[in-house]
Amino acid sequence: MQSTAVCPGSFDPITRGHLDIIRRASSLFERVIVLVVINRDKTPSFTVSERAAMIRACVQELPNVEVDSYEGLLVDYARAKGACAIVKGLRAVSDFEYEFQMALTNKKLLPEAETVFLATSTENMYLSSSLVKQIASFGGDISGFVPDIVAEMVQGRLGKSPCGRQ
Ligand code: PNS
Repeated sequence: MQSTAVCPGSFDPITRGHLDIIRRASSLFERVIVLVVINRDKTPSFTVSERAAMIRACVQELPNVEVDSYEGLLVDYARAKGACAIVKGLRAVSDFEYEFQMALTNKKLLPEAETVFLATSTENMYLSSSLVKQIASFGGDISGFVPDIVAEMVQGRLGKSPCGRQ
């Protein structure tokens, strides 16, 4: 059976940091499912289908990567897909405690799947979707942080001209 990994997240929106992790996961596993997870506790800026469409546009050149969305327990999805791994990116020590808690809990719930942490590339250590949205909302340049197609959507939704210019 082919090795399947799930790469879950909110992806609101997908960043260059997420893409780096997805690309690297796609060279480790035969099939990678990027999963937009619906979290009722968060108020996202983009709908699930918008987030999934942005991701699809960014992973076109990766033939073993699929995009899906889901609401529920991650382990239930991973089990249904026969996934052997859950792939997460780790940026800094600040990510670690929360990610470790989730990894241990998921392992307890689904012992047959491993959580695989990939250390983020140094250029993406500081990067997060919320920072990207904050920068865009003040008219800042986000082109270095997200792919062009995502930058256009974020600026269209949240952007304003720099220094309040019209
Ligand atoms: O990008 P995020 O918001 O940090 O991703 C968090 C996510 C979606 C991976 C996490 O909240 C999750 O796995 N949610 C699904 C619900 C679930 O399985 N919860 C128990 C985790 S131990």
